[in-house]
Amino acid sequence: MSRFTLNERPVSIALDPQTPLLHAIRDAANLTGTKYGCGTGDCGACMVLVDGEALRSCLINLAEVEGRFVTTIEGLSRDRSHPVQQALVAQQAIQCGFCTPGIAIAAAALLAKNADPGEEEIAAAIPNLCRCGVYPRLLEAVRQAGRVTRRQEIISAAPAPGIAAQDAARSVPAITPVPNGDAAAE
Ligand code: FES
Ligand code: FES
Repeated sequence: MSRFTLNERPVSIALDPQTPLLHAIRDAANLTGTKYGCGTGDCGACMVLVDGEALRSCLINLAEVEGRFVTTIEGLSRDRSHPVQQALVAQQAIQCGFCTPGIAIAAAALLAKNADPGEEEIAAAIPNLCRCGVYPRLLEAVRQAGRVTRRQEIISAAPAPGIAAQDAARSVPAITPVPNGDAAAE
């Protein structure tokens, strides 16, 4: 049995202590925001915070997080209000989104230590791979999140949780009303 704190809640996971943390998070705790990209420590899609440090959860096992504090993307904020989350959306630094949770975790860890990082620091702290190539926008997003963290800027259009009304409307096919209400007759 492995015991640690996951997103501020104590958890006990009955898996082999050698199980990668990534699989425990996704399959035992059902927190699927943390992504399985390469499984070999190269992509960063699986990053989580362990005692505030961004680590690749595919490379550490349950035994290594015993008694520690683990935060996944779901625990970064409850309402997407973390400056990094807001800035990633504001800068449209998300395309397919697969790399985004890991990037958000790495950026949050960086800004917690230094809210005004330079370009080289950002590149070093966020080595995550993005197959969609969001890097220029990512750089802007981290800079903006830094300004928000330093209280020099407010992002007013914070994303609402869930699907925006206009996006939800787009996903519903247009329905042409049938005069007598008998759709089967069409
Ligand atoms: S899945 Fe862990 S670094 Fe790629
Ligand atoms: S947004 Fe698609 S992999 Fe980064």
